[in-house]
Amino acid sequence: VSEHVLAFDQAINPYGCSPKVAEAMAAFALSRSYRFYGDPDARALREKLAAHHGLAPENLLVYNGAGEALVWIFVARLLLPQARLLVPYPAYERFVAVGARTAAEVVEVPLDPQDFSLDIDRVIETARARGAGVALLSNPNNPTGNLLVDEAAMARLLDEVPELLWIVDEAYADYAGVSHASWVAERRNLVVLRTFSKAYGLAGLRVGYAVGHVEEMTRLSAFRLPWNVGSMSLVAAETAIDDQEYLKDVVGKIRADREAFGAMLRSVPGLRPYPSDANFYLVALDGLNPPRLLEHLAAQRIRVRTRPDMPSHIRVTSLLPEQNARLVEALATVPA
Ligand SMILES: Cc1ncc(COP(=O)(O)O)c(C=O)c1O
Repeated sequence: VSEHVLAFDQAINPYGCSPKVAEAMAAFALSRSYRFYGDPDARALREKLAAHHGLAPENLLVYNGAGEALVWIFVARLLLPQARLLVPYPAYERFVAVGARTAAEVVEVPLDPQDFSLDIDRVIETARARGAGVALLSNPNNPTGNLLVDEAAMARLLDEVPELLWIVDEAYADYAGVSHASWVAERRNLVVLRTFSKAYGLAGLRVGYAVGHVEEMTRLSAFRLPWNVGSMSLVAAETAIDDQEYLKDVVGKIRADREAFGAMLRSVPGLRPYPSDANFYLVALDGLNPPRLLEHLAAQRIRVRTRPDMPSHIRVTSLLPEQNARLVEALATVPA
C-alpha cells in the first residue's frame, strides 16, 4: 500500500509492531543466518506460545498466517472426507471461499439482521440436521465486528454437537480480550486459530498458528512440511510474543481510538456503525448513495472495504486518530 493512500480496507495495526521486533530482525539479517535452514518445527516459538496460553507445545502448529492453517485443516477435515462446512453469514469471505472449494457443501446460518448475533439453538439444529463436519466461527466476527460466542455458548456448541470440529478464528481476539485457546487442553473438537497479522502488527511476515487438542494437532501435522515458516518470520514472532507489555499498550490505544472513531462516525448523518469488539466498524449507509460515496473517497485516495453482497455497507479499520478524523471529514462531505 502506497504511503499516499489511506487504507481503511485492511484491518491492520496502524501503530505497527514492537520496536524490539525490528531490532531482532535487523540483527538476524546482519548475521546472515538465513543461509541455514531454521527450526523445522518452530519449536522455540511453539514453546513460547505454549507458555503464553498455558498449554503444551504439542497443542500448537505454526503456519504462514492463520489462513494457511485453515487451508490444511480444510484439506484434512473437509476435502478428503467430503464433509459439509457450517459458517455464519456474513463471515470472512476469503475463508468461506476456500471452504466452498474444499467442502462438499457450505451451509450458512444467517446472523440476526438487527445486531448480527448468532442464534446458538439454530446453529446446533442446523449442524445436526445437515450433518456438518466442520464449523468456522470468527470471534470477533469479520465483517460485523461483534463477538459471536461467549463461554456459555461455546460450551453448548462443543457439548451438544461433539462430532463436529469447531474452528474458532481469533484473529481479532486481542482487541476483545476473549479467547478460548486454553480450552483445547480438555476439548477434542475445538481448534482455535490465532495470528500475528493483527494486534501484533506483522501482517506482511505471515505468521499464524493453530491451537488444538494433541490428537487433532498430530493428525494435522501430517500435512505440514518441515521449515514451512521462514526463519526471519519466526524471529519476529518470538520477539513479538515476548513483548506483551507493548501488545497491551498498543491494544489499549487502538481500543480507545476505536471508541472515539465510533462516536465521530455516529455523528455523521446517514452513517450507522455497528458496535465493535474488533479494530474496525461495519457501517450501514442509510440514505447515502454508495457509488457516489466511494467515488468521493477514491478522489481523496481513501480506501474502504466493500463487498458485493452488502452494497449498502462499508467496513473501516480504526487507523491513527488523525487518519480516522480525515475519513470522517470525507464521509461528512459526500455530495448529495
Ligand atoms: C477473520 C480473519 N481471520 C484471519 C485473517 C487473516 O489472518 P492471517 O493474516 O494470519 O492469514 C483475517 C484478515 O483479514 C481475518 O479478517
